[in-house]
Amino acid sequence: MTQTELDDLRKEYEDVVAVNDFSLTLADGEFLVLLGPSGCGKSTTLRMTAGLEDSTSGDIVVDGERVNDRAPAERDFAMVFQEVALYPHMTVRKNISSPLRAAGVDSGTIEDRVERTARMLDIEGLLDRKPGELSGGQQQRVAIGRALVREPRAFLLDEPFSKLDQKLRTGLQKELKRLQDQTGVTTMFVTHDQEEAMVLADRIAIMNEGRLQQVDTPETVYRKPANRFVADFIGNPVMNFFDVTADDGTLCLEGVPHPDAPSAVPNGAASMAARPEDADLVPAVDASADRHLTVEVDLVEMRGSTTYLICDFDGREVTFTQSSDIGAEGDRLALDFDFDAVNFFDERGDLIERTSEQNVQSTR
Ligand SMILES: Nc1ncnc2c1ncn2[C@@H]1O[C@H](COP(=O)(O)OP(=O)(O)OP(=O)(O)O)[C@@H](O)[C@H]1O
Ligand SMILES: [Mg+2]
Repeated sequence: MTQTELDDLRKEYEDVVAVNDFSLTLADGEFLVLLGPSGCGKSTTLRMTAGLEDSTSGDIVVDGERVNDRAPAERDFAMVFQEVALYPHMTVRKNISSPLRAAGVDSGTIEDRVERTARMLDIEGLLDRKPGELSGGQQQRVAIGRALVREPRAFLLDEPFSKLDQKLRTGLQKELKRLQDQTGVTTMFVTHDQEEAMVLADRIAIMNEGRLQQVDTPETVYRKPANRFVADFIGNPVMNFFDVTADDGTLCLEGVPHPDAPSAVPNGAASMAARPEDADLVPAVDASADRHLTVEVDLVEMRGSTTYLICDFDGREVTFTQSSDIGAEGDRLALDFDFDAVNFFDERGDLIERTSEQNVQSTR
């Protein structure tokens, strides 16, 4: 059992607050992904957890014990970074076994563990090669093997796949996910790539400017983003935002009343956010123009199995999923929103939780 608690963790450099009052508990066996834009404090958080960086204040508690003053080796977390640092003169076998040899583990156990780790990572055939004779993806697998072989309390990874091409990345993501399922080692993985986060995570912790914005399952951060920052950061194509007012309980979107919308517009709603799939685009002639927002199709973009319509709404770009075959460049279409799926945010940009009563009313 390893439970890691970060409690009010803070890191100040001379003139920057890199991490600001960050609190989070990693459950035993959890795969947590730390996600956010460049410079938001992900690596600093990971490095403080590992013990490679002192915190300005706050506690790091592992299984009930405060470990702030413990050296990285004593914390027993294994780390993998973007830059693979293997010993070039040693074989893969020697590289993987190096932490065990340093710990004085007997040679029979070492052999067993190296073989098992190599099998999990599918690098058994490479054990007698040197790093210079391996591809980038193979080197990264060896680095992961070297971290895993110790059977550490937790696994900390900082953008380990970001230098690899897309195909290799996808392959290694799957392998890492499978490996983590098998071993059950608590894992903290840093990335700025939301798709990588979605694929890997049990929970995603989203940071911005040093602060934690939301910690939740991939589905919840996608469906119920805690604030506009998360809404905007997660999802590709991005969310579409519309100004909201409530006129006598009737929803007005960009000044256009929508009597079919939820009768109880959440109090204080200032904007509505719709994912590309949260509206049907229908020919404008079929919709009453005074009850629907209309857009003009600028571009039809096919991305594999999904086609997006990139549209102009009042000089702004909005993107929706094409339903059936409706929509060619230059067409004028009306937006028919799924009001159960959209989200409302208040003036500060925080999500307004809708009660089930409001949801019931919205389906009437
Ligand atoms: N040694 C340092 N001295 C001063 N400022 C630093 C130092 N290390 C990091 N910072 C600053 O702290 C902030 C957070 O940096 P951090 O490396 O944690 O970001 P990150 O989220 O990992 O970004 P990236 O995705 O680019 O790796 C940044 O503003 C960075 O400039
Ligand atoms: Mg970083």
